[in-house]
Amino acid sequence: MIDALDRLEGLLVDGGAAHANGKLDVFDPTTGDQIAGIATSTTEDCLAAVEAASQAAGRWAATPPRERAELLRRCYETMMAEQAEIAALLQLENGKPMAEALGEVAYAADFFRWFSEEAVRIRGEIRRSPMGDKHIMVLPEPVGVSVQITPWNFPAAMPVRKIAPALAAGCTTVVKPAPATPLTAYYIADLMARCGTPQGVINLVIPEPPNEATAAMLADRAVRKVSFTGSIAVGKHLLRLAADRVLRTSMELGGNAPFVVLADAEVDVAVEAAIAAKMRNTGATCVAPNRLYVHEQVADDFTEALSARMAGLTIGYDRRPDAQVGPLISTRERAKVAGLVTTAVSGGAKVVTGGRAPDCSGYFYEPTVLADVEPDAPILTQEIFGPVAPLVRFSDEASVVEMANSTNAGLIAYVISGDLGHGLAVGQRLEAGLVALNRGIISDASAPFGGVKESGIGREGGFEGIEEYLERKYVASNW
Ligand code: SIN
Repeated sequence: MIDALDRLEGLLVDGGAAHANGKLDVFDPTTGDQIAGIATSTTEDCLAAVEAASQAAGRWAATPPRERAELLRRCYETMMAEQAEIAALLQLENGKPMAEALGEVAYAADFFRWFSEEAVRIRGEIRRSPMGDKHIMVLPEPVGVSVQITPWNFPAAMPVRKIAPALAAGCTTVVKPAPATPLTAYYIADLMARCGTPQGVINLVIPEPPNEATAAMLADRAVRKVSFTGSIAVGKHLLRLAADRVLRTSMELGGNAPFVVLADAEVDVAVEAAIAAKMRNTGATCVAPNRLYVHEQVADDFTEALSARMAGLTIGYDRRPDAQVGPLISTRERAKVAGLVTTAVSGGAKVVTGGRAPDCSGYFYEPTVLADVEPDAPILTQEIFGPVAPLVRFSDEASVVEMANSTNAGLIAYVISGDLGHGLAVGQRLEAGLVALNRGIISDASAPFGGVKESGIGREGGFEGIEEYLERKYVASNW
């Protein structure tokens, strides 16, 4: 833990950073203790980072793809070699259980590996026009300087999911990690420098307060792209700023995931999928099931089994090594989750297990199952981002599809069915960029991740991920 902080010493105000303009305190959500002070960036610092990215852009775009690929591969290997150290740092600032922190580092590293493989497979095309009067050449080119804004819930995976395809495509970047969890991003930037990333190719800024600096960066003529993971509200704000300069955008915004347990579901499969999906990062993911619709034929069994599993999870007080449930990121987040539960209960929902913020240091909230939630309850209309599973019974499939689709979000939908064809047919009717069928975890560096409706624009990961950082230039030629 301390090793990782030592490595970052030069960047920490308390460690004597050269240009500490301000100081941002970083807290450990497991204890509430302050763990570091980070030098913050002024708007001028952020614009200097854009300038550095712009200066490096030409050289980086001209670097042979194989060289870019090998750099990303070294980043993958180094990240895996330092997995335990990074996981300890990540856990310190984010609070997720150690098993999950290790898993997140491997997930993050996998984006380096996947895009190292993609860097050498960027394809253009050449063909004759239908009239036969010319050749049509379509040449891939890097978009240019990107601003990448990442959230606190995956402090390693979200930055790498953006940085790796950008670098693979030949783009340079300015990364703005979440103020709650900047240490892991600093570690990754340092790791990338150690692996040989040329100066200016990746730049990190921590503007505090962030709004003015973000707007200034997006207004800078050198910036050609903004990629954001976070809330729908902030995404819309960034889209408005991006519209002023007609920037390319990738938006991975919030979800409000339905989790549909069909009448023919096996209850064990449904419970394991629900636990995996709901409790990953203590419910603070945009792919967490937010509304669990359970067919009345299996509702009693599912409620009982899910509640027993939730009640049996080990909460990570005092950072116990066998923890399965971490804290929320802040007291504010915890108060929001508690408020949603209170409102649901006053609307008639029944607390089957949990429903309480334990009296302890750290920002914990008990794993909670709410039964008999009314289909129009407010808890079903916004992202909970906490360990609360609201259950709604349904009796006919047409109405559950309608309820599942009755939201502005469309990131992911879960379907549990004992009949693959049945599950696929329901999945096809759900408005979502991702469908998880009979499983709780879907994220994979090699698969396209992203939403429809207000959940976003574009895809990260998969073959599609690198396209977000490429333009296609058409050259017409005679020869
Ligand atoms: C997110 O919650 O924003 C991303 C989750 C994932 O990549 O699985």
